[in-house]
Amino acid sequence: MAAGVTKRLFIKTYGCQMNVYDSERMADVLRPLGYAPTDTAEGADFVILNTCHIREKAAEKVYSELGKLREMKEARSGALTIAVAGCVAQAEGEEIMRRQPAVDLVVGPQAYHQLPELLTRTARARGERIGADFAADEKFDSLPQTRGVTGPTAFLTVQEGCDKFCSFCVVPYTRGAEWSRPGEAVLAEARGLADQGVRELTLLGQNVNAYDGTGPNGAVWTLAQLARALAETPGIDRIRYTTSHPNDMADDLIAAHAELPQLMPYLHLPVQSGSDRILRLMNRKHGRQAYIDLIGRIRQARPDIAISGDFIVGFPGETDRDFEDTMDLVRRVNYASAFSFMYSPRPGTPAATMGTQVPAEVALSRLHALQALLLQQQSAFNAAQAGKTLDVLFEKKGRHGRQAIGRSPYLQSVHAEDADHLIGRIVPVRILSGQQNSLTGELLGA
Ligand code: SAH
Ligand code: SF4
Ligand code: F3S
Repeated sequence: MAAGVTKRLFIKTYGCQMNVYDSERMADVLRPLGYAPTDTAEGADFVILNTCHIREKAAEKVYSELGKLREMKEARSGALTIAVAGCVAQAEGEEIMRRQPAVDLVVGPQAYHQLPELLTRTARARGERIGADFAADEKFDSLPQTRGVTGPTAFLTVQEGCDKFCSFCVVPYTRGAEWSRPGEAVLAEARGLADQGVRELTLLGQNVNAYDGTGPNGAVWTLAQLARALAETPGIDRIRYTTSHPNDMADDLIAAHAELPQLMPYLHLPVQSGSDRILRLMNRKHGRQAYIDLIGRIRQARPDIAISGDFIVGFPGETDRDFEDTMDLVRRVNYASAFSFMYSPRPGTPAATMGTQVPAEVALSRLHALQALLLQQQSAFNAAQAGKTLDVLFEKKGRHGRQAIGRSPYLQSVHAEDADHLIGRIVPVRILSGQQNSLTGELLGA
């Protein structure tokens, strides 16, 4: 194709927020080559599936999607480049190439900065597979300075990888060992985002509160120190971070929730189970009481903080009694929101070969019971906002009229009428009502 001609790029993203960040960065890397993002595979010249390996369903979706893309490619006599990126690419790159010959290249999470080079090479020979070496520093150093920003909020990866090795989880294998970006690199990216109108940053890491990047003076920075430095960036009014492990919830981070106005009162702190026995089998490295006490200390520092979590039901060996312990923990903590999953055995993880897998129908009925309780708590938390005035960062237009949608400090979606001129701004909104998944508010003086 001639230089200067726009080529269309479609990236389909599965999995966690870090994949969302990575997809944006892949688009940044490909922009100088003339690729412009499009939002369907139809008519795209280049399709990237940015994949997730966390549960079997997520990983299997990739193969059905690839089947559809192969048909599209055949219908166009081969004029479509297909890449698989992300955690499935890392975990089973060779299997992808074997199972789906229409795939042109496979690129792991630490190698996508090499996409331009890979593309020119695959023009000559199919079958590149790049990944495995986990050189995160090299990746970040070679990404373009400027990011394509689409609104007032942005993800910013500050830490990658995980050393925790929970017995059910593939992340330590797909993302490698814990590694933190240097503070100055994070600050520079934040300044660039602020210059483009970003007001709210969500700092990302598989274990973000284990952040230990090098600070500008050569000493190691904690996440709290990084957040304090970011809070000085003109234009950055809100800071969030995800995901945290309970054992890395340091005192200075808890204190920052009391002292740093930019740090939003919301914390995603997965516990997975409320049973000490299951927590041990999961290799979570803490007990239920330690988690409950930790939540207590966090709430002492920031009484209104919204707590969110992740849960797995049906972990091998989980009994009714263990599950009751999870329900009891949920009642004690009282979550503002949470994600819950049925355990999915993952190849290569210790839990996959534990001899006591829970029957699917038992796990499913536990999942329903847990989700009912969590939704009840979420609805109650949302309903309790009625009558309050909350600062809302408006992010985008709503479905009808001049409606706009934004986020409360507690990460709730807030809908308000006649507010579309306020996108990108933080304004006080009177909350009229709270539903299961969102709040309805009105502008003050409306
Ligand atoms: N610390 C990570 C967790 C990633 S996985 C992070 O940064 O987000 C997200 C959630 O998926 C986990 O908290 C866990 O609840 C769930 N999960 C992980 N492995 C799973 C498995 N094998 N089966 C079911 N759920 C799983
Ligand atoms: Fe997976 Fe556990 Fe690491 Fe989270 S802390 S990414 S659940 S191994
Ligand atoms: Fe999935 Fe990889 Fe994220 S396995 S959850 S995309 S780190």
